[in-house]
Amino acid sequence: MKVLIVGSGGREHAIAWKVAQSERVDKIYCAPGNAGIAEYAECVPIGAMEFDRLVAFAKEKEIDLTVIGMDDPLVGGVVDAFEAAGLRVFGPRKNAAILEGSKAFSKDLMKKYGIPTAAYEVFHSPETAMEYLQTAKLPIVLKADGLALGKGVLICQTREEAMDGVKSLMMDRSFGSAGDTIVVEEFMTGREVSVLTFVDGNTYRIMASAQDHKRAQDGDQGLNTGGMGTFSPSPFYTPEVDAFCRQYIYQPTVDAMRAEGRTFQGVIFFGLMLTEDGPKVLEYNARFGDPETQVVLVRMKNDIVDVFEACVDQTLDQIDLQFEENAAVCVVLASDGYPLKYEKGLPINGLENFADRDGYYVFHAGSRFSDGQIVTNGGRVLGVTAKGADLKQARANAYAATEWVSFANKYMRHDIGKAIDEA
Ligand code: AMP
Ligand code: GLY
Repeated sequence: MKVLIVGSGGREHAIAWKVAQSERVDKIYCAPGNAGIAEYAECVPIGAMEFDRLVAFAKEKEIDLTVIGMDDPLVGGVVDAFEAAGLRVFGPRKNAAILEGSKAFSKDLMKKYGIPTAAYEVFHSPETAMEYLQTAKLPIVLKADGLALGKGVLICQTREEAMDGVKSLMMDRSFGSAGDTIVVEEFMTGREVSVLTFVDGNTYRIMASAQDHKRAQDGDQGLNTGGMGTFSPSPFYTPEVDAFCRQYIYQPTVDAMRAEGRTFQGVIFFGLMLTEDGPKVLEYNARFGDPETQVVLVRMKNDIVDVFEACVDQTLDQIDLQFEENAAVCVVLASDGYPLKYEKGLPINGLENFADRDGYYVFHAGSRFSDGQIVTNGGRVLGVTAKGADLKQARANAYAATEWVSFANKYMRHDIGKAIDEA
């Protein structure tokens, strides 16, 4: 069969690598893809938001299944466009992708269905938000309602910061219309865990747990980024936590979406915080995480195409999802200066060192070809990923492998997986 993957990051590279393992797949296309994805897929220069061109391409090439990696096209209704053309596609429809597309929607859903999450208020005007913040308990969290590249969350320690935050989100509109509505949320403390699940509308299957590192610098300092590294599994995701989440979070979310007439088929990414009062939902994403996907998929045993199809056909109850009994760590190699200003177009050397090395992977997040050479093309450039018998071994392997590649402004965190030592 022929598969089309939509996206261009490390997540899509990991998906393409996993799809390429399937004996059922003869040909993979990726739109727009990157220089790493090109090893497994024919990359076509169509942007992820060009729905008409994507649909026309899928029809012309008689694509059997399209997999959408990114949030923007999902929230924008790319799945609806494919379905309207009679094409098979993996991902939530627009009315379900709102689970990620609007934080006010997801908070209201959790409240209505009793799913544990932080206490919150929703505001549509800066005046009412500021009035509320005069007396709200500190610290307090402000969130832009809409998509903001993972950067629309402000943790405010003082009232002044909170007022500045409202001004930035709602008046200066630093994230455009995404901040016209904001959620103001109670500050929680605890360990964070990412849990990716396949969902077919009725049934869910959990992929391995993972943990991301969102801040740019060691010790969780600096600005928020898309994610600087991950490990899987999370040692804090115990069988007790798992049992609680299955009963009070995962199935209730799937059922709530169906009850609302927003049947969810695709991946729900549960961003959880393990608080003293038990696990609570920090956020939902309507897609695979990046770079969580890299550490999760390298451990997955199933043919991923079978699982994608089971979600589309609502037969996920027949899938026994299995993971290897090992661990994986991904260290992101970024361009120095990310997430602010950085240089692109710098040659990347040493990629060949990963060829034929079992258990070591280099997933490209931002790369392209230039005069026959692979060069940097983004803030996050590569996700060096390694497996090991346990988390410590996987971390040692991943950091050793970061030395195999080089580019002029290579930057990484040196404490990915530090929490492993505290487990
Ligand atoms: P989100 O995009 O909603 O996951 O938020 C980004 C990050 O902000 C999370 O990974 C947390 O580290 C932090 N965060 C979000 N909401 C809260 C909260 N209510 N309390 C404490 N930290 C939070
Ligand atoms: N790594 C966090 C995300 O994909 O949103």
